[in-house]
Amino acid sequence: MSQIKEFISNAKPLNESIEYYYEIFTKEEVNIRTRWSAPYYLALYSQKKDNYLENIGFVFQQVSLYMQSIGIGNCWVGLGSIKGKNPDFVILMAFGKSEKMTRDLSDFKRKKLSEICDFDDERLKPAQLAPSAINSQPWHFRHAEDGFDVFQVKQNILKRQVLKKWNPIDVGIALAHLYVSNKDTFEFKIKNVDDIKGYKYIGSIKI
Ligand SMILES: Cc1cc2nc3c(=O)[nH]c(=O)nc-3n(C[C@H](O)[C@H](O)[C@H](O)COP(=O)(O)O)c2cc1C
Repeated sequence: MSQIKEFISNAKPLNESIEYYYEIFTKEEVNIRTRWSAPYYLALYSQKKDNYLENIGFVFQQVSLYMQSIGIGNCWVGLGSIKGKNPDFVILMAFGKSEKMTRDLSDFKRKKLSEICDFDDERLKPAQLAPSAINSQPWHFRHAEDGFDVFQVKQNILKRQVLKKWNPIDVGIALAHLYVSNKDTFEFKIKNVDDIKGYKYIGSIKI
């Protein structure tokens, strides 16, 4: 626990001006709809400012990858909540010691690189492998002058009901994968870029 707390306090935010915090609960202390065997839950909270969902995804996906690297299995839990009310509550992440930490690449069901970008670019592989709510993979990248413009897929009206809170978190998660694989060069900026048909502009990155 102390290693995890230490890591969280040093994780990089996407937007430094958004305050966020967390609590750690046991299984009995949270509401979860499906059966989970994980013993612990990170409850994530944030100040509600522009891009706060992308920021939570970005910060805590770094934590997810770190936990994975020290043998702690984990999963984002959209279908769960804290007991009691806190308007800052965003989402839970389940975690606990896991027996099997490795996984074949062939087990990942993901869109092709050409579907998540204007043209194939191997540098986007870490984003391609990112987890997302109901595996919706809502990220889309377009080559720009010195990096990529990042977009979020606009879902149809039915899917939007379910995914509207989670898809921005998913985009933050994919950006965390690009940050972790390009630690020294990664930069995120919001520029004056228009939405394109079917996609909402989120920001621009250098990797
Ligand atoms: C924001 C978010 C919320 C999620 N919520 C749940 C959940 O409530 N229950 C669950 O079983 N998995 C949940 N997941 C896990 C995804 O379903 C999973 O990552 C995706 O289907 C891809 O599967 P894979 O990561 O095993 O390749 C969530 C993932 C994300 C990123």
